Amino acid sequence: MSSIAVLGCMWGDEAKAKIVDFLGDQADVVIRFQGGSNAGHTIYLNESKYVFHSVPSGILYPQTMCVIGSGVVVDPASILEEISLLQAQGISFENRLFIDERAGVVLPLHRILDNRNEAGATKIGTTKRGIGPAYTDITARIGIRLIDLAYPEWLSQRLVNLYARHQVELAEQELANQLKDLEGFWQQLKPYVCQTDLLLYKLYHEGKNLLFEGAQGTLLDICYGTYPFVTSSHTMAGGISTGAGVPLRFTDKIIGVYKAYCTRVGDGPFPTELLCETGNRIRQQGNEYGSTTGRPRRVGWFDAVAAKYSARINGIDRMALTLLDVLSGIEKLKICTGYWHQGVRLEGFPTHHLLLEEVQVEYLELDGWDNDLGGIKTLSKLPKAAKEYLDAIQDCLEVPIELVSVGKERSQTIVIKN
Ligand code: IMP
Repeated sequence: MSSIAVLGCMWGDEAKAKIVDFLGDQADVVIRFQGGSNAGHTIYLNESKYVFHSVPSGILYPQTMCVIGSGVVVDPASILEEISLLQAQGISFENRLFIDERAGVVLPLHRILDNRNEAGATKIGTTKRGIGPAYTDITARIGIRLIDLAYPEWLSQRLVNLYARHQVELAEQELANQLKDLEGFWQQLKPYVCQTDLLLYKLYHEGKNLLFEGAQGTLLDICYGTYPFVTSSHTMAGGISTGAGVPLRFTDKIIGVYKAYCTRVGDGPFPTELLCETGNRIRQQGNEYGSTTGRPRRVGWFDAVAAKYSARINGIDRMALTLLDVLSGIEKLKICTGYWHQGVRLEGFPTHHLLLEEVQVEYLELDGWDNDLGGIKTLSKLPKAAKEYLDAIQDCLEVPIELVSVGKERSQTIVIKN
């Protein structure tokens, strides 16, 4: 038995779902432990496209169970829509999807608050899905959790109190409408809701393989990310235990997913950002547009300083490097190997975003390659320059690369035996 975690290690959108899907046949259970409908995980399989926001992408394997842990915030309307879209694509959920009853509920109010925050001076470029405000309410102990939907009178009082606390008006008719909606959502979600910590405990002790699927990325972690330009959950490995209710020892191996270059959506520092034709070209070649919001992603060179920081705090055992094929045709490639500030080479990754915005970047320049990598199945068949690029990243991070993705399809994945 072996349980693994697949974590995004930069600012999200590292194509984690592709890696989860590739490893999915070894997993009996795939578990989401943080985030919510802000996530956008896309899988291409047999020329069909599947988009996931809250449902673990392991649902594509008919025998795999999928768990949404208590660390996730669930938007009932959005997850029900996602379930019905996937059902229309032939996916069955019966006895396969389990949602923790403690998961926080994202309400229409949270979207209102998210939009309000984004219209003001504290804007950070969120997905406007209400994620931050929903987590804030949970932390403030005024939030609504899924199990609250089973207690209508309590729920009604909680809603009234919540709106009052946020000084948002809630007319009587509106309260009645929301309670009616929530009652309808609860009837549909109830069959999936349970204590998933207990379920995972039993499955683990039955010898089942668990796969923890991270959402967003380490540099968006609420504490260790580029605060305040972060999401509101613990995206790093430490979030697995609290977000899924499992002991730390349940994770045997951590795979860190990195893109062959960097991207970021939303505001915040991005030392290797390419505000030039090369950046536009990578954006086009990599179709770098958000799967949740459609926003163009900011693009930059691979940042080994930031990458090494996230490898360290997650305890990455192996790397999966994705979208290598996107770099084909770019004559010279760069990898950031150091940050400088006021003539001093910095140790590690700065905490304050104002310092990160000011760093000068030291680059290692490497030759690119022209070949289309999409059909390559083994490391030895990669162009020499591509192998050198992988070696350089490995050397910087001091972590072996185990998987290289060279295309969207499950089959376009190179396995490197270490
Ligand atoms: P929020 O999670 O919607 O509150 O957004 C906070 C920050 O995280 C913003 O910069 C978003 O663009 C970013 N973010 C949230 N979810 C994702 C994701 O799935 N991929 C990449 N960035 C994300």
